[in-house]
Amino acid sequence: MHDHEPAAPSPSLFSWEFAADPYPSYAWLRENSPVHRTTLPSGVNAWLVTRYADARQALADARLSKNPVHHSERAHAKGKVGIPGERSADLMTHLLNIDPPDHTRLRRLVSKAFTPRRVAEFAPRVQALTDRLIDGFAGRGSADLIHEFAFPLPIYAICDLLGVPAEDQDDFRDWAGTMIRHGGGPRGGVARAVKRMRAYLLELIHRKRAALGDDLISGLIRASDHGEHLTENEAAAMAFILLFAGFETTVNLIGNGTYALLRDPGQRRVLTDALAAGETAVLDTGVEELLRYDGPVELATWRFATEPLTIGGRRIGTGEPVLVVLAAADRDPARFDRPDTLDLARRDNPHLGFGHGIHYCLGAPLARLEGRTALATLLTRLPDLQLAVPEGELRWRGGLIMRGLRELPVTFTPEP
Ligand code: HEM
Repeated sequence: MHDHEPAAPSPSLFSWEFAADPYPSYAWLRENSPVHRTTLPSGVNAWLVTRYADARQALADARLSKNPVHHSERAHAKGKVGIPGERSADLMTHLLNIDPPDHTRLRRLVSKAFTPRRVAEFAPRVQALTDRLIDGFAGRGSADLIHEFAFPLPIYAICDLLGVPAEDQDDFRDWAGTMIRHGGGPRGGVARAVKRMRAYLLELIHRKRAALGDDLISGLIRASDHGEHLTENEAAAMAFILLFAGFETTVNLIGNGTYALLRDPGQRRVLTDALAAGETAVLDTGVEELLRYDGPVELATWRFATEPLTIGGRRIGTGEPVLVVLAAADRDPARFDRPDTLDLARRDNPHLGFGHGIHYCLGAPLARLEGRTALATLLTRLPDLQLAVPEGELRWRGGLIMRGLRELPVTFTPEP
């Protein structure tokens, strides 16, 4: 246990160089200050938990609440914690902001509609979407894989799954684009986009109630548990969190994953050889490894201590925020053999990329389906895909929660 904070790691946390490669700083933290008190760029104070064992324990600790009412700096932090614009838009009552028993009830209801079977049945649709997006640039010989591929794929996929009509899906693409671009920046445009999305979803839920279909929104309306149903507001908040939680994350799984493969020709060959031979085992373990190696969610979302507790020997006071650094835990040499090596065939891989405990990612089956389909199709259709710029010129989105590229310019032999 430290009496004083050790000197800060270099490069300093949340700087530009840090966003490009946070892993050396995370290694420093794991070694020197595994439960580290810091002031975030927003001015909010928080604890960072970086060791695997501590992280896993914290994610499952019922004394750590997800509800921001428990934050001791709540007034000061208003608007700086959670989803940009959500406060103004009354979308607060969603899974990532609540604790049992409300969480248990809502999660049970949504799980009845958002089943692994629904996702499995959706596979041909994800394949068709993936091919359509690649068709858009395959004849050109160059593309920005973030804007033309990784960004639109998850938004169209989740819109389709929810039952948003095709003619309205480009509105979602625009709103989602505003929300991503402004993450951490000016909030006006974001609040407006969130408001429009909410109004649209409420209207859509209202219309679907009159004529239920077999889409996910109809499933949410239909789902009941001991006679309990979601209210229209709860269903709107649920649809919103499915969009929000399932969108930028998947963009970054596809973006970070493709980038990791482009940088590692040996591992890329392992995957393309297996795909050419019709073997999918490496694709399965490979997606998990890409989630571990450079997962989209850098820090699990906020948790607040509801009573004094100890993590890794440090006392956390009531109301203090705790951020579990999934990306650091997943490179912990105490848990993973050769943690800084990408090994697509890695078997012993209980990574925390989807979280752990009662808030474990609800969308994991969909994310896996999208990640597998996107990577397999891209590498098969464009076998000589390569980076169009030197690695050092790529810009990363230096967020707090999410880690991903701003753009991924590539070249390849055009499809005839
Ligand atoms: C929760 C990661 C895709 C919906 C989470 C959590 C993580 C995560 C780490 C837990 C957060 C915490 O404990 O604070 C990811 C990653 C994804 C992904 C890495 C893509 C690669 C999706 C998709 C959807 C989704 C596609 C839905 C369509 C959710 C929901 C929760 C959640 C609803 C909250 C669950 C709860 O609180 O009970 N996700 N996610 N996610 N995710 Fe995902």
